[in-house]
Amino acid sequence: MSQDAKESTVTAAPADAGTGDALENLLHENRKFAPSEEFAANAVVGAGDYAEAAQDRPAFWAKQARELLTWSKDFDQALDWSNPPFAKWFVGGEINAAYNALDRHVENGLGDRVAIHFEGEPGDTRSYSYAELTEEVKKAANAFESLGVAKGDRVAVYLPMIPEAVITLLACARIGAVHSVVFGGFSADALRSRIDDAEAKLVVTADGTFRRGKPSALKPAVDEALAKEGHTVENVVVVKRNGESVNWVEGRDKWWDETVGTASTEHTAVGHDSEHPLFILYTSGTTGKPKGILHTTGGYLTQGAYTHKAVFDLHPETDVFWCTADVGWVTGHSYVAYAPLINGATQVMYEGTPDSPHQGRWWEIVEKYKVSILYTAPTAIRTFMKWGKDIPAKYDLSSIRVLGSVGEPINPEAWMWYREVIGGNGGKKDTPAPIVDTWWQTETGAQMIAPLPGVTATKPGSAQVPLPGIAVDVVDELGESVPDGHGGYLVVREPWPSMLRGIWGDPERFKDTYWSRFEAMYFAGDGAKKDEDGDIWLLGRVDDVMNVSGHRLSTTEIESALVSHPSVAEAAVVGAADETTGQAVVAFVILRGDAANNGDETVQELRNHVGKEIGPIAKPKHVLVVPELPKTRSGKIMRRLLKDVAEGREVGDATTLSDPTIMQQIAESLRK
Ligand code: PRX
Repeated sequence: MSQDAKESTVTAAPADAGTGDALENLLHENRKFAPSEEFAANAVVGAGDYAEAAQDRPAFWAKQARELLTWSKDFDQALDWSNPPFAKWFVGGEINAAYNALDRHVENGLGDRVAIHFEGEPGDTRSYSYAELTEEVKKAANAFESLGVAKGDRVAVYLPMIPEAVITLLACARIGAVHSVVFGGFSADALRSRIDDAEAKLVVTADGTFRRGKPSALKPAVDEALAKEGHTVENVVVVKRNGESVNWVEGRDKWWDETVGTASTEHTAVGHDSEHPLFILYTSGTTGKPKGILHTTGGYLTQGAYTHKAVFDLHPETDVFWCTADVGWVTGHSYVAYAPLINGATQVMYEGTPDSPHQGRWWEIVEKYKVSILYTAPTAIRTFMKWGKDIPAKYDLSSIRVLGSVGEPINPEAWMWYREVIGGNGGKKDTPAPIVDTWWQTETGAQMIAPLPGVTATKPGSAQVPLPGIAVDVVDELGESVPDGHGGYLVVREPWPSMLRGIWGDPERFKDTYWSRFEAMYFAGDGAKKDEDGDIWLLGRVDDVMNVSGHRLSTTEIESALVSHPSVAEAAVVGAADETTGQAVVAFVILRGDAANNGDETVQELRNHVGKEIGPIAKPKHVLVVPELPKTRSGKIMRRLLKDVAEGREVGDATTLSDPTIMQQIAESLRK
């Protein structure tokens, strides 16, 4: 990307999305693990749901909506699809998400059940019963209302993984305010652009958190984000978490303890329209500007609750569920803040990193709380593999009975390790816990493709089958369904309850991004294959979106950040295969004529610049200063060739380059 070209439209063919030889191996995977008889006999969802959903999809979802949720007003129609791609689910119904997650469980006599076991990084712990959590959410709802937040207003949330994050989300939902969580790893600039896009009235943050035993600040980023006038924020509520001193803006800033802490515990939840906006969550797309993905209430809660129950075989009376995702990402929304509480489950929430203060921290937590369902990302599993199986072996993991994976393709080797070392308690269990690999996206709101652990014979590395009531397919360039044994693009053919309702403030972009590639189908942006059994294998993105440690990053967004540095003339970013993080960000930059190349110092400066513009998570692993970039005659950067270089492969076909010697020049400059 050059300084004046901020848009990019490169779309690789699905074959590009694969992993070469690894793909061949994938499709010859013939290990299968059928559920044990005992597991199948006790499973909460059986094969019958597939047949039932296939008969009448909307009716199936309507049944789930009524069974799993309590509506203040029943709905008249399951689905209104008269104006595609704008869906309405459970039309005419009214529902309160917080009432469903909290009050009704207390009313049903489950007030004493633990909702959240919180484990802070420094080792402090707190447990909230459903009754206690309900009280906290009522207090927060009153406090936010007293600060002038009303139904429909937007609230930006910039918090670490602490219970106040869940309390804030549910308090917003309770009063009908729309939360917009910004992951704590994003910079002040990124926070500001999201605050502006959503026109947030309130920001909820903390002084900071802990990272590897040390305090790590958050409030300064909020101060920096709001330093420049012209924003819509009236108040900032600050949770005291790490006790570090913070700057204070009188009148604007309020301590959580002094506002929420002193608020009344009386608050009546009223029903909101089923299609009332619940939240916005920004995610990277193929162009520079992140998209505010909009989710609404009734459908989102229904599919979240159903999938949480069916895919994890949830027995809420006895299970202890732990989803390790941060609430800054969609997984932390759907499977921390909402579905587990809607389903009345007990869950674990952990603030810190897996290696603090030692590499066995997660397994210590599993042992301590007797976690029975663990949901995490392949990147974490690969990190644990690297640390070695002796570490989990020191702990009793016998409580685990279901394992989940999400965020990126899980390679069969990591899958097998997860099964044997974690699910098999280091070989001490006769029947290891089943693994459910779950494919979904910020946009889909809830899981879409996954085995059912009591039904499906699982296969290492494949997410396998669309869930009951979900119409996923793999199609070719023309949108035709591909036969088994072939690859193409992943699409969804029919509307689903938790589908995004749009991009905040940009209906055209919603149509263009997801609904224009194929006629009447949702295009997910992923490449996929069907194997000989018809099982689906996800092969990664086919657009300019990278997946680093299960986090979505846009090549274009990072290129924009790089070219905004005064020394950079042009930049191209690729996601290169990485053993641990799945992909790693590798940037190729051309410096401006008058900019000095100070080697490592320049590289460090550019990495930090990206950190400041977007956030530490987007910092390139490698920055390579090159004399030229490979471009086609029409000026498109050929990232495929750069990827070859970044992955240390022989460079592929370069004949369409405007200057075929460029790859040699690049190779030469890198040798130096
Ligand atoms: O490429 C797919 C990958 O993550 C993308 C969605 O990212 P995000 O919106 O951040 O949500 C991540 C958590 C739901 C998808 O387009 N992805 C997600 N789950 C899987 C996956 N790729 C392969 N297998 C999965 N199980």
